[in-house]
Amino acid sequence: MTATLTPVLTAHWDDPDAFRLDAYRRAGGYQALAKALATPPDDIIAMVKESGLRGRGGAGFPTGVKWGFIPQGDGKPHYLVVNADESEPGTCKDIPLMLATPHLLVEGAVIAAYAIRAEHAFIYVRGEVLHVVRRVQQAVAEAYQAGYLGRDILGSGYDLELTVHAGAGAYECGEETALLTSLEGYRGLPRLKPPFPAVAGLYACPTVVNNVESIASVPSIVANGGRWFAGLGTEKSKGYGIFSLSGHVTKPGQYEAPLGITLRELLDLAGGVRAGHRLKFWTPGGSSTPIFTDEHLDVPMDFESTAAAGSMLGTRALQIFDETTCVVRAVLRWNQFYEHESCGKCTPCREGTFWMTLLLDGLERGEGNEEDLEKLLDICDNMNGRVFCPLGDGAISPVVSSIKYFRDEFLEHHKRGGCPFDPAAATLFGDAQ
Ligand SMILES: Cc1cc2nc3c(=O)[nH]c(=O)nc-3n(C[C@H](O)[C@H](O)[C@H](O)COP(=O)(O)O)c2cc1C
Ligand code: SF4
Repeated sequence: MTATLTPVLTAHWDDPDAFRLDAYRRAGGYQALAKALATPPDDIIAMVKESGLRGRGGAGFPTGVKWGFIPQGDGKPHYLVVNADESEPGTCKDIPLMLATPHLLVEGAVIAAYAIRAEHAFIYVRGEVLHVVRRVQQAVAEAYQAGYLGRDILGSGYDLELTVHAGAGAYECGEETALLTSLEGYRGLPRLKPPFPAVAGLYACPTVVNNVESIASVPSIVANGGRWFAGLGTEKSKGYGIFSLSGHVTKPGQYEAPLGITLRELLDLAGGVRAGHRLKFWTPGGSSTPIFTDEHLDVPMDFESTAAAGSMLGTRALQIFDETTCVVRAVLRWNQFYEHESCGKCTPCREGTFWMTLLLDGLERGEGNEEDLEKLLDICDNMNGRVFCPLGDGAISPVVSSIKYFRDEFLEHHKRGGCPFDPAAATLFGDAQ
């Protein structure tokens, strides 16, 4: 570990008992909750606004501002919903966080619910990860027993029920409005916005939906103050975040660092690209963010700089691919994922992802030509901004960006009448060969 890392959320991950209530309390857990409950809710919102925390689920909306949208004195129930659906290819930070320190999430959820004056909160966990669902359920049960949940929390007079809900395993249910529809018991289809969840969310009541990492960041902000958090990171992308390095990297894993760190610095910490190989392309924030190449090693990993360089910070899921990887094959695999996960509600995404799979598959097998590349771009153009929810916009990101940087490689497949890469050499997660 070097000074570049700022372990806050991940500080206790090395402790095999970190998930237990006792261990969490020994490390200072639930002290921020006691402090928060002695503070007026509006002051907590002001503190989170001052911190500059921006949503860690991908879009980067300021968390304190979102909380401030919840109308007060409206006589309606308010809800907090924690988005723990984590299903994007490459994204893998919330699941380890919930496994290692579920109480950090529970503590953050109680503080957030108190701030927005909600009496019922939900954690919507991806259904396939049963071990995580159980881990969070166990933490919630312990928190009830210890008086951190339920009636009159820590003698403050504040009541909160917290329900852990397991989804049925659909990527689309991570989209906040589809998640709310699913939580209500319906098929997880997205809803038109506006109205936004803060006005008409769960059961048409004011609702805040926040990512796991956003909510888990709250106890440290309450404990240390908004200014402390704002002192880390860059001018507009404040604080720290978990950077998940996967793929062709020597030491894949979670690296918690201030926003603004570069891939070059992260690779230094992670032992570089696997021995004997060099970086070819990478995703800065999961498969929905346009790919970068080795030209982008020094782009600061913050919301503004990644956007200025033509991509997005997303969920900081850095999937690293070396020169043995066929970019056409990688993009085909991602597109097959989007085709499978498209909910089918709107035509451009339902049809577009289907046709893109056909075209990419042909191109990868060397049966496509330059005209097919233009068709692919035309489909992307017809999807861009014309789809009902951001899943469709995300689906075109790898296609457009890979053609931008690797057009010749697409055409090389056509020239050779097949893939120029030896599939045996393109082993993911392999050591030096
Ligand atoms: C297809 C799709 C899947 C998403 N999956 C997740 C997810 O698993 N977790 C998450 O926090 N946000 C996900 N989002 C973003 C949410 O819609 C929403 O922006 C986020 O939960 C807000 O929380 P934040 O402000 O704390 O980032 C997804 C969005 C889309 C379009
Ligand atoms: S873009 Fe349309 S079809 Fe695709 S997931 Fe969203 S609503 Fe469903």
